[in-house]
Amino acid sequence: MARESFLVFGSPLIEQPEIDEVVECLRSGWIGSGPRVSRFEEKFREYTGAAHAVALNSCTAALHLAFQAVGVGAGDEVIAPTMTFVATANAVVHAGATPVLVDCDRRTMNVDPDAIEAAITPRTRALVIVHFAGRPCEMDRILAIAKRHDLRLVEDCAHAIETTVGGRHAGTFGDVGCFSFYVTKNVVTGEGGMAIAPSKEVSDRIRMLGLHGMTKDAWRRFSDKGYVHYDVVEIGFKYNMMDIQAAIGIHQLARVERLLERRREIWRRYDEAFGDLPVFLPAPEEPGTRHALHLYTLLLDTDRTAVSRDEFLERMTERKIGTGVHYRAVHLHPVYRERFGYRSGQFPNAEWISDRTVSLPLSAKLTDSDVDDVIEAVRGCLDA
Ligand SMILES: Cc1ncc(COP(=O)(O)O)c(C=O)c1O
Repeated sequence: MARESFLVFGSPLIEQPEIDEVVECLRSGWIGSGPRVSRFEEKFREYTGAAHAVALNSCTAALHLAFQAVGVGAGDEVIAPTMTFVATANAVVHAGATPVLVDCDRRTMNVDPDAIEAAITPRTRALVIVHFAGRPCEMDRILAIAKRHDLRLVEDCAHAIETTVGGRHAGTFGDVGCFSFYVTKNVVTGEGGMAIAPSKEVSDRIRMLGLHGMTKDAWRRFSDKGYVHYDVVEIGFKYNMMDIQAAIGIHQLARVERLLERRREIWRRYDEAFGDLPVFLPAPEEPGTRHALHLYTLLLDTDRTAVSRDEFLERMTERKIGTGVHYRAVHLHPVYRERFGYRSGQFPNAEWISDRTVSLPLSAKLTDSDVDDVIEAVRGCLDA
């Protein structure tokens, strides 16, 4: 039996406090980057334990500026996982450098440290890692590699707002941690991102490059402290977050731990419900770490299923359940093949995942009955 309404994948849970705050912001006369953005930055800094935080309009923007701020540019190579969203690798190209893609581990889907080490050349300047689905990468090994080869480290934490290793937040290990508040993420602002950094110099540079290369932002120019002139000292970008976005983020962040617990309940129900099916379940959380439970990815054991992954997706849609594919590996996309010469067969683990992965709805907004519908649909689609 199909549901009556379509269950949208990744639909966020928006509650009254952020609705009220957005209305207040709209009425306040200041909707651009201002006091609410500063408050959100401060709350995010406190939450992650970072020294500095800069709110931006996406994680892609944060990644781009992170590379620029740590000195990546033309002629440099940056090692990046191929099992990620293209934004991770695209941002390397935005910074003028060449992405050198590497394979992942099949079980954790995280970048393989041995593959990183094997890809290092004299031109390697930096390394970007992705804490995939919210599961932390092997930080001990990655930090050792970065140190041994004197590489700058950027952490793509788009999935990893709540992720910790040994109690320490993802994003605080490297030179810059980049977060996303896109609509499907664990904290949403519509579009939005944050860069955190231990170095004031790096975070100041990110802030300046994110606003045209100007030395003063608009709030500082137009606030009740009186007009102040700015200088433009670099050719920057327009990547700042607005107060309307921060108004949502402040309240989303305040309940991030509660939403994580709700997703944990859903996660457990899926694990229990799918154990007997021809699928590989997400690997359990590693001891001493916290998984942000951003994506619940089933890998269809296609040697044992009657349906292909893509047929499975179609059947789920027919049953009115939205799904996602995270991801088809970056190197398989036409522009990466054509521009950088990648080819299929090059990264077997990422390709194995690309052909089998399906993400199920995991938003804290799901009701128990939505979760029942997802479970029934998955079982039904695999039986058929
Ligand atoms: C791993 C990863 N990196 C980067 C991004 C880009 O985030 P944004 O949409 O905020 O630019 C995403 C977004 O989906 C992502 O999943």
